[in-house]
Amino acid sequence: MRPKSGLPKRKALRRMPQFRYGFRENPDMAARLNPSLKPTSQRPNSWSVLSMFAGCGGFDLGLLGGFSYLGKDYPVLPFRVVHAYDNDPKTVETYRLNLGHHISEVDLVEADLTEFPPATILTGGFPCQDFSSSGPKVGLAGRRGALYSVMRDYMALHQPAVVVAENVPFLARLHGGKAIQTILEDFRSVGYRFNVWRIFCPDFGLPQSRTRLFLVGVRDGVEGFPAMPTPTHAFQHISIDDAIDDLEDVSDEAIPNQSQYFVATKATKGAGQGDHTSKKGELAYNVRANPKARVHFHYALSRRLTVRECARLQSFPDEFVFPHSASHNILQIGNAVPPIIGHVVGLQLAKFLEAHAAALPRD
Ligand SMILES: C[S@@+](CC[C@H](N)C(=O)[O-])C[C@H]1O[C@@H](n2cnc3c(N)ncnc32)[C@H](O)[C@@H]1O
Repeated sequence: MRPKSGLPKRKALRRMPQFRYGFRENPDMAARLNPSLKPTSQRPNSWSVLSMFAGCGGFDLGLLGGFSYLGKDYPVLPFRVVHAYDNDPKTVETYRLNLGHHISEVDLVEADLTEFPPATILTGGFPCQDFSSSGPKVGLAGRRGALYSVMRDYMALHQPAVVVAENVPFLARLHGGKAIQTILEDFRSVGYRFNVWRIFCPDFGLPQSRTRLFLVGVRDGVEGFPAMPTPTHAFQHISIDDAIDDLEDVSDEAIPNQSQYFVATKATKGAGQGDHTSKKGELAYNVRANPKARVHFHYALSRRLTVRECARLQSFPDEFVFPHSASHNILQIGNAVPPIIGHVVGLQLAKFLEAHAAALPRD
């Protein structure tokens, strides 16, 4: 039976990815890898990062650097992740497979933050769907009502020098701007100053139309601010076909996750971002965290984009593998900070910390 939308019925291909190595164990990565990801290394002489709501590790990979994407190198940055946290078991599995075992499956609302390690940098892409539509006043004080407050509580307790909270651009408009103001006031109340960076990702080499907000905080008493990054690709956006045109074949897993996709006949009409057909020579549409297969269609072929194509559009290197079903993998990919955007942010943090190295030495 056809669904009510009139669109063709969706079928998931029940293929699971095949791969031999996660990112950090892939022999091709050995020379490029951030040393903190090597099983034997402690990597002193780097700044420590504590990662909340870590997801599959898109932001963390970007901060660490040590990968290449579309032929460009993203060098190792002077950071190490002391610990990461997420409450979704499948997401944690992906993180462990690729970045290592320094992640715990934890509901941060319930966590005892006194047991968390201190760190120079706190990061977190806190989910914002818990804001009540009746206004930001509802339940914001408690952790359950507003997940960002876990980050505030960590700041109050452990006083990281720098904080980066990431979110969707809609946060700036939510409840007429009151939600973001409340969050920033709350963050400031525990001794921080904040700037908001609105980053249009294609201006930094992402082949996808995606904008993200970064709330960048510095502890009171630490002078200055990391500088907002300057676009590197403002007049030279990378198109969808530049990014994925070598990936047409879906018959095998020579590149992991390339045979995983949702079967559907091309939609001739219909609504919903996921049913758009990508256009050759243009940016890809936003890769959404939508486990219901609303993945957009290929610009030249009669199929939706594969999991690997979505990962490419989010700037994951091909060595980073997603071990789950197509639905779970797409969810994790769409949720992530694109690693190359994490790297852009990381570079700015590294420059800032370097300038304050006397007061904030690497540990
Ligand atoms: C937007 S994603 C973060 C993606 C991540 N920044 C990345 O780059 O891959 C938000 C994450 O928060 C996690 N999450 C939601 N509620 C949580 C909770 N109560 N405790 C811990 N993690 C939670 C979700 O599982 C999800 O992976």
